[in-house]
Amino acid sequence: MILVNSGFDNDNSKYKVRPLITSSVTPDDITLVADDKLLAQVFINIVKNSVESFGKCKEDNFISMSADRNPDGRVVLSIKDNGPGMDVDTVEKIFVPFFTTKESGSGIGLSLSRQIIRIHNGNITCDSTPGKGTTVSMIF
Ligand SMILES: Nc1ncnc2c1ncn2[C@@H]1O[C@H](COP(=O)(O)OP(=O)(O)OP(=O)(O)O)[C@@H](O)[C@H]1O
Ligand SMILES: [Mg+2]
Repeated sequence: MILVNSGFDNDNSKYKVRPLITSSVTPDDITLVADDKLLAQVFINIVKNSVESFGKCKEDNFISMSADRNPDGRVVLSIKDNGPGMDVDTVEKIFVPFFTTKESGSGIGLSLSRQIIRIHNGNITCDSTPGKGTTVSMIF
């Protein structure tokens, strides 16, 4: 949370309004054996994308993070935003190295995240609806 909020903390921040950031873990004894530094990097990449997607953040923008188990007992981590979303053609390319739609983007965040999730024997997917928002999910 400290990492996620850090870009909003000074008056010079380009983000004048903080998005609401929430998180939930259900059941609360979920454990995942992982490299915490690498996994933190993945979360930073994904949350950064959500924040960047908001552009000029509106009062009602939110990012919600959750950890739960699917019916098979596998751990699922999700990060959901209510940004502008993406069309299907864009979603298909977002994990491709160097794919970016941003003027100053490098297109590395999600391809690197996918590598990190893969070395943890996980899978990362993205579900997005234009005008509604985006959810990135990781399953282990
Ligand atoms: N939450 C999101 N909402 C809307 N578009 C997104 C979202 N996440 C990713 N994208 C799209 O996917 C593209 C690739 O994302 P990725 O993080 O790999 O690269 P980047 O953000 O452009 O650059 P970098 O992360 O290297 O600074 C983005 O340019 C953007 O078009
Ligand atoms: Mg990015």
